[in-house]
Amino acid sequence: MSTTIGTPGTAEAVRLILLGSGELGREVALEAIRLGCEVLAVDRYDGAPAMQVAQRSAVIDMTDGDALRALLTAERERAHGRLLVVPEIEAIATDVLVELEAEGLHVIPTARAARLTMDREGIRRLAAEELGLPTSPYRFCTSAEEVTAAVAAVGVPCVVKPVMSSSGKGQSVVHALDGGPAAWDFAQAGTRADTGAVIVEGFVEFDYEITLLTVRHAGGTSFCAPIGHVQVDGDYRESWQPQPMSEAALAGARDIALKVTDALGGHGIFGVELFVRGDEVLFSEVSPRPHDTGMVTMATQTLSEFALHARAILGLPVQADEIPLLAPAGASAVILSAAAGAPRYDGLADALAVDPAVSVRLFGKPEAPKPRRLGVALATAGDVDAARALATAAAARIAVS
Ligand SMILES: Nc1ncnc2c1ncn2[C@@H]1O[C@H](COP(=O)(O)OP(=O)(O)OP(=O)(O)O)[C@@H](O)[C@H]1O
Ligand SMILES: [Mg+2]
Repeated sequence: MSTTIGTPGTAEAVRLILLGSGELGREVALEAIRLGCEVLAVDRYDGAPAMQVAQRSAVIDMTDGDALRALLTAERERAHGRLLVVPEIEAIATDVLVELEAEGLHVIPTARAARLTMDREGIRRLAAEELGLPTSPYRFCTSAEEVTAAVAAVGVPCVVKPVMSSSGKGQSVVHALDGGPAAWDFAQAGTRADTGAVIVEGFVEFDYEITLLTVRHAGGTSFCAPIGHVQVDGDYRESWQPQPMSEAALAGARDIALKVTDALGGHGIFGVELFVRGDEVLFSEVSPRPHDTGMVTMATQTLSEFALHARAILGLPVQADEIPLLAPAGASAVILSAAAGAPRYDGLADALAVDPAVSVRLFGKPEAPKPRRLGVALATAGDVDAARALATAAAARIAVS
């Protein structure tokens, strides 16, 4: 692959089309721009975080195949330099990516990876049935009756999730054998598709869960130190790195991550989500892109997950098999809030006064009608507990109104 970088705004520019312009996309845009790229930030609303830093932006519904095809085709005709399509969210008309990739469009990491991970069924069947990776027991269902049967088969407690959803939307835990219909109804309200399909998964009594950031790049595959995290209602609140693990569990985690990322292929970073119980590791899901819990790497690594992603997708080297940490430990704590209209933030000075090793990122989201992740506090310290305490204390000092 050529690694020549032309000048932004000219025919030789290396152009990234970011499909999804949230806080993760914003960091990818910044890292790509630092390497001299031209970024077109795309989302369904104007003023999204990545649009505020990219050279160009476009507002389309990315689940509308015709709109997506029109945008990508126009960009292909615009200039003939290197063009990379970089999905940053799941909700995209991925069939269009598959079609255009067959015509030579470069999709990160691959169009197939984007398609398989946009719903839970594609990736779960690949991991469990094709690759034979250990997962919780599961059934896919398309009606309340099927959910009742699946709850009986999988056993309680179990988790019911829309096949198409993220951040825990529509997800609930069923504790009684007659709880299926209520979980089905709850999932219908939280799904982003009209199929209504759900997965019923055995509830895993894990000791802890991790995200193993795995980078596929021109020189092979590299791993970040495991990231531990806490989720509330399926949405991440705190993450830290490194999560202490036994040697056997870490080896098992890397083995699963290598197999699933090799199967998805392409270059870029992957967030492999795993449940750990003793030395046993179960695969949960994978993002073929930076992971929200990986925001902690903005404090803990010289090359954050976003910098690693930018390097990898541009064909540039990542010169370590294990990405080193800058401090013994680091943590992130989210600033989650609702505010009418454009939010404003107070208490930043107090938050930063918590410790010199604290930093804060505000995402600049133009509106927050529902409780939404608006920023993150980051900290490094001598151990995980101390880092978590600093990050949560700093996040708590930021008032959103
Ligand atoms: N089978 C399970 N057993 C126990 N806990 C689970 C199970 N499935 C999910 N969870 C919990 O719910 C969280 C969110 O689940 P999952 O990652 O499948 O949903 P998601 O909507 O894709 O979330 P995100 O988009 O934030 O990754 C997990 O990180 C875990 O804490
Ligand atoms: Mg998840």
